[in-house]
Amino acid sequence: MQTELLREDQSRSPEQRLRPQRSRTDCPILLSPRLVLRAPHEDDIDALAHLANNANIATMVSRMPHPYTTADAADFVRRAKAGTIGPGTIGKCVYAITKADNGAFLGCCGIEPHADGKTVELGYWLGEPYWNQGYATEATQALTDMAFRTRDIDQIDARCRVMNMASRRVIQKCGFQFQGSGMVDSLALGGTVAVEWYRLDRKTWVSLRSWGGMR
Ligand SMILES: CC(C)(COP(=O)(O)OP(=O)(O)OC[C@H]1O[C@@H](n2cnc3c(N)ncnc32)[C@H](O)[C@@H]1OP(=O)(O)O)[C@@H](O)C(=O)NCCC(=O)NCCS
Repeated sequence: MQTELLREDQSRSPEQRLRPQRSRTDCPILLSPRLVLRAPHEDDIDALAHLANNANIATMVSRMPHPYTTADAADFVRRAKAGTIGPGTIGKCVYAITKADNGAFLGCCGIEPHADGKTVELGYWLGEPYWNQGYATEATQALTDMAFRTRDIDQIDARCRVMNMASRRVIQKCGFQFQGSGMVDSLALGGTVAVEWYRLDRKTWVSLRSWGGMR
């Protein structure tokens, strides 16, 4: 019986094997070598308010207020728990990025489904003391793997401001490819900003996984 199942599974293409047979909408805790990605909770409020109150972060993401207060952080945690952050909340995941060794709160990341049902959008930010240590790349890889393994999606999109060299580098290190440019709203800047749009499609992700060379 087990041999039969094994034979049947191996007859599927690598892409079919890695595509879930039933799409999930929950947000499992994610582990990576140095990080734990889990739902934000009340204990994060002080660190969140401290780290997020930074124009270098707020001006790079679309929906973060600036200045960022403890009340903003408490509201964010409450809405993350209620599943009411932003539009398209079914299948949306908001994660606190934390250190696996000491539980420190480093920042946030998440995925948000598009209305087409085949695409999710990726977002992330890290507190400035934690930049340039590979954490965003590690978190993005964990999120990407989860999204393709648990959702019946074809692609993951990411957008970064044209001037955001660090985020562009994270996106490129994770295998995303340039699609075009456009404009998005920025809450902190009170207007629209120029962004680049990148995409990782399932076939490319399967290839990267089988090469094993992206980590
Ligand atoms: C973007 C951000 C999440 C990156 O986090 P991070 O943990 O520092 O990212 P990583 O360490 O995984 O990778 C950063 C890469 O960018 C590179 N980099 C950083 N600053 C750079 C710059 N000014 N010019 C060119 N490359 C730069 C780093 O060298 C590194 O690349 P490498 O591994 O090839 O050396 C973090 O800077 C941040 O939170 N910024 C503000 C919010 C934001 O921009 N969010 C993303 C919105 S699209």
